Amino acid sequence: MREDFINLLIQKVNETFGIMKPYMPAEEGLQRRVTESMNYSFISGGKRIRPLFMLESYRLFGGDDLSKISPFMAAIEMIHTYSLIHDDLPAMDNDDYRRGRPTNHKMFDEATAILAGDGLLNLAFETISKAMNEEDDIIVLRRMVYANSVLANKAGIYGMIGGQMVDLMMENKTDTELDTLLFIHKHKTAALIEAALMIGAIMAGADDEEIEKIEKVGDNTGLAFQIRDDILDIIGDSIKLGKSVGSDEKNDKATYVKIKGLEESQKDLESLSKEARDIVIGIAGKETFLSDLIEYLVNREK
Ligand code: IPE
Ligand code: IPE
Ligand code: MG
Ligand code: MG
Ligand code: MG
Repeated sequence: MREDFINLLIQKVNETFGIMKPYMPAEEGLQRRVTESMNYSFISGGKRIRPLFMLESYRLFGGDDLSKISPFMAAIEMIHTYSLIHDDLPAMDNDDYRRGRPTNHKMFDEATAILAGDGLLNLAFETISKAMNEEDDIIVLRRMVYANSVLANKAGIYGMIGGQMVDLMMENKTDTELDTLLFIHKHKTAALIEAALMIGAIMAGADDEEIEKIEKVGDNTGLAFQIRDDILDIIGDSIKLGKSVGSDEKNDKATYVKIKGLEESQKDLESLSKEARDIVIGIAGKETFLSDLIEYLVNREK
């Protein structure tokens, strides 16, 4: 990782948040409780990794028009935020603390948290559809249609939702196979990170081979990211993380650490991450902010 990475990261996360914020709904109308609840979870302190990956992938493949990528950045963060709100519900992981604040259902109530999640999911695709309606350039519009289908697929039953389903099915099981665990991690977490990187590439006009390469980067990075998440659930600091720790043990989850142990897990995530980083360096021809970011996540503490 190169010097001054942390300063650059802070600057880029702020830039990312600034790009996304205008897409959030006004807190008005008779239904404003649901928009307050959506904004509550969206605005609290997330790392903004997915939209940032998207933006950096867009730049990696030569994209230079922020207005073309920004609706997708907002959309993926809305979907990710909805997945967190629902993930924390009593029916799922039953957690009280998220992004440095009480979870959505603790701050509001369960029904509102369900609706806020639903609202964010709809708003994500409404945001993209609106941008499509306003697009005159047929080439850009085609890229948007492709990017939209990637997002829907990777967030849905063949992606994040599918992974969450198997995650819940494997609670309280003593004999979860590594293959099943890899299915969970690659779907519940890697899929959205793949989508982020692929959409950046697609919107910049990358070819099929390049899109496939960046999907592989997302697969490795996403798996490494979730392995680190499993590790932090054991050794992490709740205040630093801004979310509850010990959640996996409480729910008797199938985690990477449960199967492989702490040390082996960290080793595996480092090699997955190194492979991802090397692919990015291969594409860029040099170290970039994106390759540094992948390296940074290996030892993240939040
Ligand atoms: C948490 O994601 C859920 C996982 C997939 C591990 P993040 O760690 O990116 O959460 P925020 O967005 O920073 O809150
Ligand atoms: C969640 O995995 C993945 C999602 C799709 C939200 P976890 O349940 O491990 O995420 P945290 O630890 O609660 O953030
Ligand atoms: Mg979970
Ligand atoms: Mg959870
Ligand atoms: Mg976790």
